[in-house]
Amino acid sequence: MTGSILGTTKVVGLIGNPVEHSLSPVIHNAAFRHLQLDYVYVPFPVHPDGLARAVRGLFQAGIAGLNVTVPYKERVLDCLDRVDHYAQVLGAVNTIVKEDGQLVGYNTDGPGFIRSLQAEGVDVRGKTVLVIGAGGAARAVAFALGQAGVREITFVNRTVERAQNLKREIDDIVQVEVLPLTPETLQKSLQSCQIVINTTTVGMYPHTDNTPVPGQLLQPRLTVVDLIYNPLETRLLRAAKRAGCNTVSGLGMLVYQGAASFELWTGKTAPVGVMTDAALAKLNR
Ligand code: ATR
Repeated sequence: MTGSILGTTKVVGLIGNPVEHSLSPVIHNAAFRHLQLDYVYVPFPVHPDGLARAVRGLFQAGIAGLNVTVPYKERVLDCLDRVDHYAQVLGAVNTIVKEDGQLVGYNTDGPGFIRSLQAEGVDVRGKTVLVIGAGGAARAVAFALGQAGVREITFVNRTVERAQNLKREIDDIVQVEVLPLTPETLQKSLQSCQIVINTTTVGMYPHTDNTPVPGQLLQPRLTVVDLIYNPLETRLLRAAKRAGCNTVSGLGMLVYQGAASFELWTGKTAPVGVMTDAALAKLNR
């Protein structure tokens, strides 16, 4: 946003429900201001009965691009003309762009996750990775890890069946093991992995005293990643730091998936530092 909204201002936005707590408006509007782009990012709380009409209507009203969040990332595929191969495989879209009059869906969550690890100097190639959780975030992360060349993924999840379903979807691109979430299975799998990633909501605000991994199981040789960014330092990451592990918070994934969406809409390189600072300022307020 350049400061004032003009007749020329391009609108991009977010559809989901709820959208009130999203950090994306803060991140994108800071980037638009920084690059002096005549764009504004607006959240839209879309009613479940009106998803297709909202998507079509927003683009008919001239919107330049959309992000899609919970609970519409899967359902929105039916509203689009075309879906990029990776988003199709994942069955989830978080970014929509109008290309030659067609609505095209992309997914920047997985690539954003890998970019955020690279930014922290973490190389996943050939590694054994423990993924805690088997929900939507775990799917995006696991497909991205598979494509980025990890050696093996172990899923531990409270509901084992969900992890088994995920294994079936992904085991043609990467070797996968599935275990129930217990202290014993965590202990066993932590011994053989180099990277552990929490994709569950355990430890997220307001339940900040919770952790998916007992701290005493953490070894200094591990890289511990938490997709949670509120709080920035979860109980898991605090324990991991104390144990001498390399740690990565969920803020990077949030910023880099946003950066990739920004680049799809504007064709400009996203100012990642500015976006990170804007998110941090909002989180610390
Ligand atoms: P997202 O799209 O953010 O991944 P989700 O699909 O609802 O959200 O998945 C949430 C994940 O957190 C799941 O792996 C869930 O475990 P179940 O599949 O057993 O539901 C996990 N999760 C949530 N609360 C949990 C808790 N209290 N203990 C352990 N796992 C939990």
